[in-house]
Amino acid sequence: MNENESGNRAKIIEILDKSEGGIVSGAVIAKELGISRQAVSKAIASLRDEGLDIASAPQKGYSFASPPEHTERLSPSLLDYMMRNEKKYAKSFFFEEIDSTQSVVKELASQHAPAGIVVMAEKQTAGRGRRGRKWIAPYGKNLYFSVLLRPKLKPGEVQLLNLAAGLAVKFAVDSMCGISAELKWPNDIMISGKKICGILSEAAGEPDRIYHAVTGIGVNVNMERGDLPDEIKSTATSIFIETGKKTYRTELASRILKHFAELASQTEESNGLKELLTLYRDNCSTIGREVRIIQDDSETIGLATGVTEEGALKAETPEGEMIFAAADVFHLRIN
Ligand code: BTN
Repeated sequence: MNENESGNRAKIIEILDKSEGGIVSGAVIAKELGISRQAVSKAIASLRDEGLDIASAPQKGYSFASPPEHTERLSPSLLDYMMRNEKKYAKSFFFEEIDSTQSVVKELASQHAPAGIVVMAEKQTAGRGRRGRKWIAPYGKNLYFSVLLRPKLKPGEVQLLNLAAGLAVKFAVDSMCGISAELKWPNDIMISGKKICGILSEAAGEPDRIYHAVTGIGVNVNMERGDLPDEIKSTATSIFIETGKKTYRTELASRILKHFAELASQTEESNGLKELLTLYRDNCSTIGREVRIIQDDSETIGLATGVTEEGALKAETPEGEMIFAAADVFHLRIN
């Protein structure tokens, strides 16, 4: 697929969406895009392959049989359309199956790809989690994507991207799924005490600046109970398992990406950062809780009191105030 073809597909979605269910002829679409009618019907066939529900009326033209945002499959063209007004979004690359979206974006970053590139996959065969863990990523039910950023941050501030991404996922899930997901420091999103989302930010740079950061987000969206491998059954869940409702994944991805674009850019200037940290403290359920903190091989019990300007966790412990830049945190009491 070349860039024009993917751009044309997003534009066809826009033309049909604007007509609000009305029929638009192939000739009108061809004229608006400056392409042949044959190219229009090829693009329509591809959009149907992506899951968009487009009806065709003989001799008349095309219309949406159901709204594009109700597309069940992951659709790169629909994502391009939904993100069309976002200045920070560059383009998405989509894979049916890949080892890890994180690795693909890192590779693109080393080839000077621009910030705002998003790589998504229906399945990952070697999905990576924090602290060298694996991320289980079966086909066709969830969201797995990585975003390339080139923020003005120091290596010690990369955790801020995790906080921004955690908030972005919480806001998107809450607004779309009618629930209040829990945000556990730094960026685990939980429902009923079990994880539905993991976030991993990795950066490359020098001691005083980063060249790029790659933020990877995995959300368990429509996975059913039987899809959960035994090893994660007691700690993981999905939006579907908890709400009983299927969620349109492309729409969810676009909401996450829009929130993330805005929140991540706040990390780069001081007022924005202050607002981001306030928003984070207000929405992170770890703050004010008794927690068990595991860092490397040591365990600390304490009261989580806040986050620093670098996104590290502050806790009151029997040894006094301690700061944890990266650790696993467990909430000890349900408030
Ligand atoms: C965690 O351990 O909680 C972080 C999990 C991050 C998983 C995502 S899925 C998309 C991206 N690609 C990967 O290989 N990992 C991240």
